[in-house]
Amino acid sequence: MRRRIAIFGATSAVAGEVCKRLATHGDRLFLVGRNPDKLAALVADLGPAVAGSLALDLTAEGAGAQAVAAATAALGHLDVALVAHGLLGDQLETERDFAHADEILRTNLDSVIALLIPLANDFEARGGGHLGVITSVAGERGRPRNYTYGAAKAALNTYLQGLRSRLWARGVAVHTFKLGPVDSPMTESHAKHALFSTPPAVAAAIAHHLEGRGGEHYVPAYWRPILGVVRALPEAVFQRFGFLAGR
Ligand SMILES: NC(=O)c1ccc[n+]([C@@H]2O[C@H](COP(=O)([O-])OP(=O)(O)OC[C@H]3O[C@@H](n4cnc5c(N)ncnc54)[C@H](OP(=O)(O)O)[C@@H]3O)[C@@H](O)[C@H]2O)c1
Repeated sequence: MRRRIAIFGATSAVAGEVCKRLATHGDRLFLVGRNPDKLAALVADLGPAVAGSLALDLTAEGAGAQAVAAATAALGHLDVALVAHGLLGDQLETERDFAHADEILRTNLDSVIALLIPLANDFEARGGGHLGVITSVAGERGRPRNYTYGAAKAALNTYLQGLRSRLWARGVAVHTFKLGPVDSPMTESHAKHALFSTPPAVAAAIAHHLEGRGGEHYVPAYWRPILGVVRALPEAVFQRFGFLAGR
């Protein structure tokens, strides 16, 4: 079946790979991204699968409602929506300057809720579809390395938990994609280790789950048992491990 799909934050490395998979599958896409040049390049790359696009800063006043309205107008209705944008930012800067902490909270939490309000209401009224949001394993436990970003993603995880239980009776699948570290522009300056994944691998898992049952999906799946252990560690133990509690 040819689905009608809106991708918010489409120019992210991960979302771009998801778009390629969906276009190959024959789906019709509406893309929202902040950077007009990157968005135009992606639209050109995807060809006729793209029904429309909109360049928009999703933290701007009214952007969430505007983006959802544009996608719905272009596609008629939405079968699937994926919210992918995010900002890791500079943790040390957030400890000095609330303006940067606020930018991280607005990007990873407020602007996502601004999209989810109209999306959830539309999907609820139609009685079906898949709503996916990319969060992070950073939301599972506060770490000195990224706790401002982690706090925003943790709040988003809780929001999505509630939304999933609100919408399940209407047949709407809400997917929380808890990504581990991915080799993308977001982690350009980070030292890579064996548990890093790649945008194509992560995109394959996201595209697969968007056809299945809603829930919390760890991507890649090996993060589920790892995070089970990390969450269970008492703080006094956690703080002794530099690879967990270090900067
Ligand atoms: N990479 C990782 O290790 C990792 C781990 C866990 C979770 N994640 C999550 O995965 C998702 C995709 O990230 P990625 O790895 O693909 O990184 P990325 O390539 O850096 O993508 C981040 C995207 O977010 C967009 N964005 C940021 N602020 C925005 C705003 N105000 N309005 C609209 N778009 C905005 C950026 O737009 P511009 O192109 O205009 O900058 C960029 O396209 C994010 O939600 C991220 O938090 C990533």
